[in-house]
Amino acid sequence: MAATEDPRLRPTLIAGNWKMHKTQAQAREFLREFAVALQSSPKDSLPQRGTNPDRQVILCVPYTDLAVVAEETQGSGILVGAQNIHWEDQGAFTGEISGPMLVELGVRYVIVGHSERRQYFGETDETVNRRLAAAQRHGLIPILCVGESKQQRDQGLTESWIVEQLDRGLAGIDLGQLVIAYEPIWAIGTGETCAAQEANRVIGLIRQHLGHVQIPILYGGSVKASNIDELMAQPEIDGVLVGGASLEPQEFARIANYQALATA
Ligand code: PGA
Repeated sequence: MAATEDPRLRPTLIAGNWKMHKTQAQAREFLREFAVALQSSPKDSLPQRGTNPDRQVILCVPYTDLAVVAEETQGSGILVGAQNIHWEDQGAFTGEISGPMLVELGVRYVIVGHSERRQYFGETDETVNRRLAAAQRHGLIPILCVGESKQQRDQGLTESWIVEQLDRGLAGIDLGQLVIAYEPIWAIGTGETCAAQEANRVIGLIRQHLGHVQIPILYGGSVKASNIDELMAQPEIDGVLVGGASLEPQEFARIANYQALATA
């Protein structure tokens, strides 16, 4: 295997997605408690599995919290992410936000194509593709979300649907500057987590389909302190995208400090 294809070079990413939660004051309070909890929650002492031992914590917060979170986390190692980006740099696009606006605030990552954007706000693979390109143009690392509905899973369409989302969304996109999150829709906000082995299987298929060993691929959907260790023990899972459980500082600190279980 060529050195550039060594999976150990993939970073481990623990990303929180606050969605439409927390005012600036609440964000400040979270960060204060989170900093303490990160230090006091037990840290893994076991050897790491096959990824880079550095864990990168990312907080993807509402636009109004970006400046505060960027400022308060400076020098802490925590990076800031946004939850969407428009493909134009400026213009008459009421309610949207552009790459230069995010970059100026110190944002490093941006979620693109979350299922809630697709479901409630008409996001398509085509608009997702344009947003991904804009993020990369401005040096932001997009986190592309893909995943099937319950109905698609029941009909055996999981793999073909995800391949379609990838092929359309990623046309012309640089796979070297990208993170993917596999988020089965039926597992988002439902408490129903995809079994770790199944998430591992689908993520393995995504990696195989893209033919690029180094893309970090995360799992998302009801990740909690109680299932993080098992998820992170899977060889294909490079990290997690956490919704509800990222709102609570103790819980999210425990997730960030997951215990690497010994794996085969
Ligand atoms: P959840 O959300 O952890 O609350 O299920 C995950 C997500 O939507 O990114």
